[in-house]
Amino acid sequence: MSTRKILVTSALPYANGPIHLGHLLEYIQTDIWARFQKARGHECYYVCADDAHGTPIMLKAQEQGITSEQMIAKTNIEHQADFAGFAIGFDNYHSTHSDENREFASQIYNKLNAGGYIKRKTISQLFDPQKQMFLPDRFVKGDCPKCGALDQNGDSCDVCGATYSPTEVKNARSVVSGATPVLKDSEHYFFDLPAFGQMLQDWTRSGSLQDEMANKLQEWFKDGLQMWDISRDAPYFGFEIPGAPGKFFYVWLDAPIGYLASFKNLCDKKGIDFDSFWQLDSDAEVYHFIGKDIIYFHSLFWPAMLHGAGMRKPNAIFAHGFVTVNGAKMSKSRGTFIKARTYLDHLNPEYLRYYFASKLSSSITDLDLNLDDFSQKVNADLVGKVVNIASRCAGFITKRYDGKLSANVAEPELLAEFTAAGESIADSFEKREFARAIRDIMALADKANQYIDAKAPWVLVKDDSKQQEAHDVCSMGINLFRVLMHYLKPVLPVMASETEAFLNSELSWSNYQQPLTNHAINPFKALMQRVEPAKVAAMLEASKENLQPAAEEPATKAAKTEKPASGEREPIAETISIDDFAKIDLRVARIIKAEAVEGADKLVQLQLDIGAGEVRQVFAGIKAAYSPEQLEGRLTVMVANLAPRKMRFGLSEGMVLAAGPGGSELFILSPDDGAEPGMRVK
Ligand code: 2FM
Ligand code: ZN
Repeated sequence: MSTRKILVTSALPYANGPIHLGHLLEYIQTDIWARFQKARGHECYYVCADDAHGTPIMLKAQEQGITSEQMIAKTNIEHQADFAGFAIGFDNYHSTHSDENREFASQIYNKLNAGGYIKRKTISQLFDPQKQMFLPDRFVKGDCPKCGALDQNGDSCDVCGATYSPTEVKNARSVVSGATPVLKDSEHYFFDLPAFGQMLQDWTRSGSLQDEMANKLQEWFKDGLQMWDISRDAPYFGFEIPGAPGKFFYVWLDAPIGYLASFKNLCDKKGIDFDSFWQLDSDAEVYHFIGKDIIYFHSLFWPAMLHGAGMRKPNAIFAHGFVTVNGAKMSKSRGTFIKARTYLDHLNPEYLRYYFASKLSSSITDLDLNLDDFSQKVNADLVGKVVNIASRCAGFITKRYDGKLSANVAEPELLAEFTAAGESIADSFEKREFARAIRDIMALADKANQYIDAKAPWVLVKDDSKQQEAHDVCSMGINLFRVLMHYLKPVLPVMASETEAFLNSELSWSNYQQPLTNHAINPFKALMQRVEPAKVAAMLEASKENLQPAAEEPATKAAKTEKPASGEREPIAETISIDDFAKIDLRVARIIKAEAVEGADKLVQLQLDIGAGEVRQVFAGIKAAYSPEQLEGRLTVMVANLAPRKMRFGLSEGMVLAAGPGGSELFILSPDDGAEPGMRVK
């Protein structure tokens, strides 16, 4: 096996909020893969950093009365402690607010500029006259220009699912100061992405993306690539653009450059040759693990920037889906918005590493953390199968056989079957088919337990004439356990290192095929406890308490729950007459089908039975609050005489009623038992 040079990254978390379970899927997935590559003897580095720039970070620091630098320093310490808690083995963890990143961002920009890929254009944007700053879309709120729903986001409506420009919002207000924004002109710098169209088409077809992602990109190519606005006006926390006073790089320009910066920082500390990884003809492999929501940045902007700057491109982008908890988006009110720290306060991190691994594949489908299934799987597989093998055999070795494994291998064929599985398990790890690897490992664990059941060493030890056999069987059990723990080492590094101490031997691809014979082991200590339901419940309870204050929650991608829980009641609307009310035809409807809408973050497509054999299609902005499975079959109430509206995804023929501020905090109405589809609500 020749040694490969591999650089692996995970997406850089924003420096204004805590790490939560949505993030952890990615770091655990990447960490398992990187640990696997290192174990196979490759020269593999895993780097990451905090994504420290941008308006939300600047404003949050102001809110806390500290400088942006102070805030990102504090967050960096918290993030690193959370990652260490989950045994994420970064070779380096850095920050995008670093000298290396400033240097690379300037270099790359200067090269793009020299190549003619930077254009300037004056654009008009909403400006907060009180705060004297331009407002990113998410800092504008107002009423939906399409359906009139109050207090919607500046770019999309949670009620009707429409997307629009913040300049279209009615009664717009700045979230920062409450002032009414005004339009103001400013010159912006644009990166000429369309100039790289052909190169990107070739690159994305070269196997650098998963099929689902490559298909998504074909749609974007068809729609046509746009110039990318890479500048932001002061005040902004970021790097000033060289030769452009008062203009700063947009956070997403220097974020992926942070991969280079963190790696450079590592190279300088360890004497690694940076250029041999990043020069054009490099034979090193570079992989970025990311969530599927940031594929545009990684498969279009980032390779185009690298290409334009004369650097090599990544070999592949590995995207994954989102985490749901108990079938729904993580929700603060349900206590399923679980922070890394809250988890660590209650549960063993290796439970989660194992559970994620047991469900992860190379696809981008979402992964549900079902907490009952989580407890059941960890208890059954790790405690009930794997650890059980050792705990049934180790005591006898220590007490009766002087702590030494037998000189004999009782069942060479069984052992050979276990070790022969190694290459196919390795292939599954290599292809990020972790669930497949775990299935194969657990099938072997079943076999080991069957072997021990059949031999019943606890019976053999009682018979003086069978001491050798008992010793051989227990030693065999320990050797089978050793092979399994060797396979599980990238997933369970802590338990693997305790196993190494117990076995008095390193778990390694170089020695796992040779059984331990005549070998002294140490007394066995329980390697993993069962998941206690009370601790899971306590974690959920503690996550509910985390709800206050809402301002502390992150504004990150995976948990799209950033709506502030205002605590204030929305004002009662203007009085209407009974006749006005009678104009609204509300009907009981049964949701007969619910599906996520491809390409829409917030929408669920519903088929509603409204009686008399009529089925209506409605697009409802409730995806953050409900999974399709939770909706199918239930009764609700809809506005049946709302004018149909053509949306990007199809015709919406009505509206489903829901209460709550939006995002994951939405609650659809249900009639009492006995109501039937089609009944009018009066
Ligand atoms: O979406 C996010 O959370 C970004 N902070 C990810 C950045 S990844 C990379 F490009 F830096
Ligand atoms: Zn709307």
